[in-house]
Parts: sequence; structure tokens; C-alpha cells
Amino acid sequence: MTRHVLLTGAVGQIGGLLRAGLPSTGWTLRCLDTADMGAARDGEELIRGDITDLDAVLAATTGVAAVVHMGGLSSEAAYDEIRRVNIDGTYHVLESARRAGVRRVVLASSNHAVGFTPRATCVPVDTRPRPDTFYGVSKVAGEALGSLYADRYGLDVVCLRIGTQRPRPVHPRHLSTWLSDADAVRLVDAALSAASPRFAVVYGISANTRGWWDLEPGRALGYHPVDDAEDYAGEIGDDVDTYQGFLGGEFTGPEYDQ
Ligand SMILES: NC(=O)c1ccc[n+]([C@@H]2O[C@H](COP(=O)([O-])OP(=O)(O)OC[C@H]3O[C@@H](n4cnc5c(N)ncnc54)[C@H](O)[C@@H]3O)[C@@H](O)[C@H]2O)c1
Repeated sequence: MTRHVLLTGAVGQIGGLLRAGLPSTGWTLRCLDTADMGAARDGEELIRGDITDLDAVLAATTGVAAVVHMGGLSSEAAYDEIRRVNIDGTYHVLESARRAGVRRVVLASSNHAVGFTPRATCVPVDTRPRPDTFYGVSKVAGEALGSLYADRYGLDVVCLRIGTQRPRPVHPRHLSTWLSDADAVRLVDAALSAASPRFAVVYGISANTRGWWDLEPGRALGYHPVDDAEDYAGEIGDDVDTYQGFLGGEFTGPEYDQ
């Protein structure tokens, strides 16, 4: 396969670091976002477009070898917005890939797809969906759409249940959920490079000593996390981990009642 990739959400937290990091692993990028992406960097194409517009996504998808879908709403919102941007947007990405003959799609899922799962030391990827918000529901729906397009149309679809991606862990929960910048690039590079995964769900977490998720399915795919939030344990501030019962943390709390 050529190494030309459509990256949606290229201005975001994760899109931004992939935009910076994926080229050094040999991928050339076509970036899509509704927000201003600034000037194109070496080897990059930029497309200002909206994932809620199927025609725009199809045009952006034509001619690439794979799609990395990071665009959309990254937290809780009203149900209609979540459906329109996250669920319909993910459908547009997969349907565009099918129509354009693109064989590999990497989807940003989330730990909030299983947020109401009680915390444990090694939650498997096949634990039942237990979304903690409408946002989490959209991630379950995205995984289900990915499964359909893999089984019915033979696409390779890798769903990344990302924990907490930020430069450093700053809250007690992050000691379990953190995904470092460098591991995020390793994760997406592995999801793009794995030979014929067909359909896979993996946890997008660093090798955290206090992690709650099974990282073996990711390792089987070629994702070998290096960083560990424990290295920052002494720097975590005074925040209290109020919602200790479930994986989803505060997303399981009453502030997220609509
Ligand atoms: N950052 C995390 O800790 C984390 C954790 C779990 C899952 N995720 C998931 O990973 C993905 C990326 O997360 P992030 O933190 O980079 O999010 P972000 O909010 O920082 O970035 C999202 C990007 O999508 C773009 N976008 C929004 N609506 C769009 C639309 N209609 N069309 C095109 N682009 C649109 C935004 O402009 C933004 O650049 C999201 O799907 C998110 O749910 C992130």
C-alpha cells in the first residue's frame, strides 16, 4: 500500500501531534478539518472540510491509501449534535472509504465506550459496551459501523479506545488512563501498518503501571507502548479522583446528566 493517509481532525489535540509525528514514520498526510490548519507543511495537502458532508469526505478520501479518523466532538454534547457529527461523520468516513476503494480505516474510539465498566486490573477488549455518555454511545456506534464495514465490505478497520491523551498526566485518574504523545504516534503507526487486521479493537493507553486495560491485543497488532504515567506520579497535583468506581471517571458522574 502507498503511504498516503487522510487525517481528519488534524487541528485537534491528537490530530495535531499525528500531523507532526506520522511523517517521520513514513506517512504522507492529507489533512481535513473544519478549523484553520495554517500553512501546509512539506509533503502535506490541506482540505478545509466537514465530516458531516458526505460529498466533501468522499472527495477528500479519493486517492489515499488509508484514513485516520480523529475529527469530531471529543466530549459530551447534546444527543443531536453527537449523532450528527460523531455517528453520521464516522458513517461518512467509512462509506467514503468503501466507495473510494480505500482499504484501511483507523477510528478514534474511547475508553468512554466502556465507561460504566467497574474498574479492574485488565479489562478485555471484548467486554460489553457500557457507554457513560451520549459521547460514549457514539464511540460504540463507531465501533459497530467499523465492524459492519469490515465484515460486509472487507475493509481493515482498527478502533482505538483512547484513554487520556495529553503531554503529561496531571490528575490521579491519568495514572491509569494516560496515552503519551510518542505512544499515540506508535499506536496509529501500528494500526496503519498491521498486516490484514480486518477488524480490531485495541486500547490506546501507554504502558502505565496502574493501567486498567488489556494491552495484549494492541501488542499483537504491533503497538508496543513505551511510556508509563508512573514516571509522573510525584508531580500529580491535589485533585481528588472522585469517581473511583468506574473506568469512565467523572463522565459517570451527575454533572454529565443531560
Ligand atoms: N484526547 C483524548 O484524551 C481522547 C480520549 C479518548 C478519545 N479521543 C478521541 O480521539 C479523537 C481526537 O481527539 P482530540 O482530543 O484530538 O479532539 P479535539 O477536540 O482536540 O479535536 C477534534 C478535531 O476535530 C475537528 N472537528 C470537529 N468537528 C468537525 C467536523 N464536523 N468536521 C471536521 N472536523 C471536525 C475539530 O476542529 C478539531 O480539530 C476524537 O474522536 C476523540 O473523541 C480523544
